[in-house]
Amino acid sequence: MASVKSIADSPNLTSIPSSFIFATDDSFDDVAADASLQGAEDSIPIIDLSLLINGTPQQRAKVVNELGKACEDWGFFMVVNHGVEEKLMKDLMEICVEFFELKEEEKREYETKHVLDPIRYGTSFNPKMEKAFFWRDYLKIMVHPKFHAPTKPTRFRGILEEYCTSVREMTRELLRGISESLGLEGCFLEKATDLESSLILFAANLYPPCPQPELARGLPSHSDLCLLTILLTNQIAGLQILHHDKWFNVNPIPNSFIINVGDQLEILSNGKYESVLHRAKVNDKATRISIGMAVGPSHETVVGPAPQLVNEDTNNPPMFKSIKYKDYMEIMQSSQLQEKSILDRFR
Ligand code: SIN
Ligand code: FE2
Repeated sequence: MASVKSIADSPNLTSIPSSFIFATDDSFDDVAADASLQGAEDSIPIIDLSLLINGTPQQRAKVVNELGKACEDWGFFMVVNHGVEEKLMKDLMEICVEFFELKEEEKREYETKHVLDPIRYGTSFNPKMEKAFFWRDYLKIMVHPKFHAPTKPTRFRGILEEYCTSVREMTRELLRGISESLGLEGCFLEKATDLESSLILFAANLYPPCPQPELARGLPSHSDLCLLTILLTNQIAGLQILHHDKWFNVNPIPNSFIINVGDQLEILSNGKYESVLHRAKVNDKATRISIGMAVGPSHETVVGPAPQLVNEDTNNPPMFKSIKYKDYMEIMQSSQLQEKSILDRFR
């Protein structure tokens, strides 16, 4: 199918093709507030990672506590002082822009069939399954345990490799803190997910300006399948998250990452840390780019509730069945992106 970018680039575009129009009853306009306003009553938590990594024991304990609260109350938070270099974040954003600016036939080399193919370029989410298409093009790359990268632009490989290494280091620290916040050993999540061999999916999303933003969707309401998503954006608004039954806008502060709990962490924490519904809105002015790193368990890891958090005799029975991560991911092949439809099968 034609990419959204090629449609958006057509001269004098004033309306969108009907295949991109969503029913109006599924409105995106019910947003209550802005969750990015620091200090506001409903502001998304901001975690200072330097205090988790290099702080005194008291500072570290405080951050662990904040992390636990952020995962439990919001499922979404921002991290600052995270150790990933600003220049690297900027270079990665630029190189993704350059990728999407390649000629269509160069990008189409990566148009593939299977959700577990190492490099995939495409539009919407799973067009074969969808009634209406999403106003986004994407590039998805498996970057771990085996690293892949497109050959063009030539600088892509080097930048992406460095970015992955840096984000993996940050994620390891985060997972230590999150494990402790669950009252478990610091290495719990690392071991339970076989982090050394973890499946990490890089996804760059391009949402070109849309002449009828109220009729289109960037991405519909969904949760992420992975353990944690580490998101970087080009500072254009569009991400919305569901918090206490209200939709909130989330606009990251510059040079921060947005982190969210994914389905695997909901399973492992036996429902204590829920994967939160979120969606992407489009606008008629600026191109929005978001770059996610979906950090998962390894392919072969069987994920189930942590035994330490389950007790059959009390009111803490296991809330989920166990499933191999690879099999969980495979379900995407025949699914639509819709709420928590995959996780719901394992309750
Ligand atoms: C996503 O949920 O995968 C992307 C969200 C965004 O574009 O901000
Ligand atoms: Fe997502």
